[in-house]
Amino acid sequence: RNYLYFDTISSTNDYAKEIASDSPDGTTIVAEEQTSGRGRMGRLWVSYKKQGIWMSIILKPDIAPNDAVKLTQVAAVSLVDAIKETANLTSYIKWPNDIIVNGKKVCGILTEMNGELDKINFIVVGIGVNVNVDSFPVDLQDKATSLSIEASKKIDRKLLTASILNNFEKYYRTFLDEGFLNIRNLCKEYSLTLEKDVKAIMNNKEYVGRAIDIDNDGNLIVMFKNGEKKAITSGEVSI
Ligand code: BTN
Repeated sequence: RNYLYFDTISSTNDYAKEIASDSPDGTTIVAEEQTSGRGRMGRLWVSYKKQGIWMSIILKPDIAPNDAVKLTQVAAVSLVDAIKETANLTSYIKWPNDIIVNGKKVCGILTEMNGELDKINFIVVGIGVNVNVDSFPVDLQDKATSLSIEASKKIDRKLLTASILNNFEKYYRTFLDEGFLNIRNLCKEYSLTLEKDVKAIMNNKEYVGRAIDIDNDGNLIVMFKNGEKKAITSGEVSI
């Protein structure tokens, strides 16, 4: 496996996209610090120096572009297992891409794709984990947390990185070899969103209902009061 390590970088996702065409499947970029880390929806992602895991994995699977979202779910289940193994904390997936411990976010996933309508050139799965962050700015304090805050001890970032990558490799192979069903079942088991009343915003439209399922495409199924259902394929979901 190709593994690239940086002290400081603008964004591991941006760098991954730059080198993706010439890099093999599985190439991983890790940095101690990002100066312009990015979150979803064009948000900034603060990446505290040596206090987290900021990494991106370049993937070149032979799947349809529509299936790329499933890789976010592959990453999410890998993170839940890795956090359990390394920090002994129980975490949950807030659909589609947040990992939550004790009600607060410890980790986000930013999956970006390059390809045409019918063909993927590459996918970059970016993972940011707040590992040993001691404290957060006031405006983030009730939304964000770190593994060290929740576990009341420092967590070994090397062990956690290895565990994330091992689990990712395992579930990525499961997904490619056997399809999405196993991952889907784990996503449901680890979900914070299912069986809750949610508000989803997709393409500027609001959908309020109960999250009742994650379907075999990785979409969140929301049921309205009148019994009708809607598959949420992307966007923001608040619980
Ligand atoms: C989110 O929750 O909005 C997604 C956050 C993703 C952050 C990671 S850190 C490594 C990679 N590089 C980036 O610029 N972003 C992702």
